[in-house]
Amino acid sequence: MFLWVHYADMVIALAQLPVAMVAWRAAADRPSRTSVVAFAVMVGTAVLRLAAGLLLLRWGWEFAGPRLPWVVPALVAAATVYLVWVRPAVSRARVAAVAGAVGVVLVAAVAQLAGVGPAVVTGAAVLGATAVGRAYRMAWPGPASARRGRWQAAVRAAAGVALVAAVTVGLSTASALPARSSMSGGTVDTGGGAAAGHEHRGGISVTELTGADSTTDAAVRRFTLTAQESTVRLDSGAQVAAWTFNGVTPGPQLVVHQGDLVEVTLVNRLPGVGVTVHWHGVDVPNAMDGVAGVTQDAVAPGAGFVYRFRASQAGTYWYHSHEMSSVQVRRGLFGALVVLPRDAPAPQDALDETVLRHTWGDEDGVATLGLAAGVQRRSVPAGRPVRLRLVNTDGKPATFAVTGAPVRVVAIDGTDVHEPGVLSGARILVGGGARYDVEFTMPDAPVTLRADGPAIVYSPGGDAGPDRAATAPALLDPARYGTPAATPFAPGGRFDRRFVLRIDERLGFYDGRPAVRYTLNGASFPDVPMLMVADGDLVEVTYVNRSGQHHPMHLHGHHMLVLSRDGRAATGSPWWVDTLDVGPGETYRVAFRADNPGLWMDHCHDLEHAANGMILHLGYTGVTSPFLTGSGTPNHPE
Ligand code: C2O
Ligand code: CU
Repeated sequence: MFLWVHYADMVIALAQLPVAMVAWRAAADRPSRTSVVAFAVMVGTAVLRLAAGLLLLRWGWEFAGPRLPWVVPALVAAATVYLVWVRPAVSRARVAAVAGAVGVVLVAAVAQLAGVGPAVVTGAAVLGATAVGRAYRMAWPGPASARRGRWQAAVRAAAGVALVAAVTVGLSTASALPARSSMSGGTVDTGGGAAAGHEHRGGISVTELTGADSTTDAAVRRFTLTAQESTVRLDSGAQVAAWTFNGVTPGPQLVVHQGDLVEVTLVNRLPGVGVTVHWHGVDVPNAMDGVAGVTQDAVAPGAGFVYRFRASQAGTYWYHSHEMSSVQVRRGLFGALVVLPRDAPAPQDALDETVLRHTWGDEDGVATLGLAAGVQRRSVPAGRPVRLRLVNTDGKPATFAVTGAPVRVVAIDGTDVHEPGVLSGARILVGGGARYDVEFTMPDAPVTLRADGPAIVYSPGGDAGPDRAATAPALLDPARYGTPAATPFAPGGRFDRRFVLRIDERLGFYDGRPAVRYTLNGASFPDVPMLMVADGDLVEVTYVNRSGQHHPMHLHGHHMLVLSRDGRAATGSPWWVDTLDVGPGETYRVAFRADNPGLWMDHCHDLEHAANGMILHLGYTGVTSPFLTGSGTPNHPE
């Protein structure tokens, strides 16, 4: 429903452009059929937009408020046209007024679609000048206008085209990103609104934040990940030129125990591109976070980097490159990291399988589980406990469904669900970057896991096909699943900092190319103010998604407790996330304790969106980074 209103309103806004132009032309004439129709349509679109704005009140003022003012110009223009049109004797002043009013509609429509900023100023200037010129000519037609010839029309058309081209080039150039930018500079938001920019000079560098206990006597688990070019084969037989860790994708599954010290040596053998490894969902010390240009320089071809961190929380995580991540993750530079509880049972007693869903090629490419787009079959003896760790490596949400056995959803983003109830089957919307763990006991009959296309069938004989008849189980609502338990801070308590991040959809340019931008409080990276906190702060963040897309918001280095969705408090198990899928029209309130000093990325894990600027940072006062991002550096984290 939200999507419907949202896009209908956008289409109507777009439709106002040609209508206003027709009305503009008609304004010069005496009342004619064209002017009647143009007038009627103009009033109609204004009323429809008013209706859309009022409908959006259902989602709250945050959604309706910004739209309603855009109805005013259309209404004013329509009223002006009416005033002129009903009088047979049209005075020139009135004609001028119509031209001006219509110009206002044009500016308003363009400004809204492009978002406020340089586009508005430029558009307003261009249209204002044109409207004034036209009004002047209509009010005082001279001999020139009487003798207007073809060549004059041609010159005017050429001038119009040149103007549009100049404005386009101007906007595109203005959107170019600086060749070098530092996360330590720029504007900040201290939790009460954007404050003036300041450098955190003389503080502690992210490179020093390596974790205090990394030298203790815990068991050390060592791994080597070598980034390289490899050709991989999908189950369809198609060959994919992939970028892999150790020649396989998904990369090797790293399995450690809670409390282990994990030491991973990254070696880069990719031709001509840098690489890093980010431990998605693991609250590692900042220096180990693997973000090119924020916590390290991208590792150059032939070079290496050693990551060291303690696996302090059991659960399902994944790792991926955070250099050119929108390209590198898509091409295969990712894998799973599983942290087993200290006292985990011997693996032969249970089937514990990590299922990574990945789409090859572009967004509409081939969706696979592992490397299989079709149906995979597994043999599991009846009575055996099964745990499936579902991971969505894409940006768009995917629906996973498990049918054929009573199941429990035991963990979300690496945190156990408290007292998860038994469901007759599970259907889960797994947002980009998120993980859900599902458990069941293998029955005599087959169990089917589907993931919007690819599927895996578990059966005692290992030969069963997917059940076609299964009715889809109800969609899991994590806000109502499980039972409440103690949380380290009271959801209703007071917060040291409160931030609101409003997500909008803008047509325009980003880094010199045309792009749909999903803005955060109207801005794109690197212009989104850094959220500033002090060590120990209790922080509240509200995400308001006013766009028509899902945005899986991922905060590095912290886990966020979901407090409410659309104003209704979460009532189930404490719902901890590191990546929260915020759907179109949704508002989420989350909270976290700022207990991991550093400079942390906070971005949309639809990595295409991130590449179009949907990135901001969480910064701790006094922390600086010596690293830079941009075309003049080795670092392009997005
Ligand atoms: Cu999974 Cu910033 O990343
Ligand atoms: Cu997004």
